Amino acid sequence: VKRIEAIVRPDALRAVLASLKAVGYPGVTVLEAEGHGTQKGETEAYRSQSVDCLLPKLIVSMVVEDNLLEKAIDTIVKAARKGEIGDGKIFIYPVDDVIRIRTGDRGRAAL
Ligand SMILES: Nc1ncnc2c1ncn2[C@@H]1O[C@H](COP(=O)(O)OP(=O)(O)OP(=O)(O)O)[C@@H](O)[C@H]1O
Ligand SMILES: [Mg+2]
Repeated sequence: VKRIEAIVRPDALRAVLASLKAVGYPGVTVLEAEGHGTQKGETEAYRSQSVDCLLPKLIVSMVVEDNLLEKAIDTIVKAARKGEIGDGKIFIYPVDDVIRIRTGDRGRAAL
């Protein structure tokens, strides 16, 4: 089981979620964020409402079974890529366990 943390442009969210829906996924969490990558926000700064070169981004966080991982990554990349700097980044983390609070299910059964 892996956690996909995709940091994307806010205006990419709808396309990302729509294309993931076609793939099928158990659940998703979206968080508002500010950040910068290697350009430190400078070349995108004309769009920025924030200080310190931090640009608004959304974090799409999704925990999936390993067999869905590559498909999900591929889908997110295709939906979020404009081919311009600031398109975003995806980090992958191992997930030790999952607990569904309502039932106490553990592991894959809890996804
Ligand atoms: N190494 C990192 N650690 C944590 N967050 C990061 C890192 N790199 C990028 N991010 C986050 O991802 C967002 C988008 O990064 P961005 O796409 O600009 O990466 P990049 O490496 O500069 O690539 P590009 O050259 O395509 O712009 C940043 O605003 C930041 O929130
Ligand atoms: Mg960048």
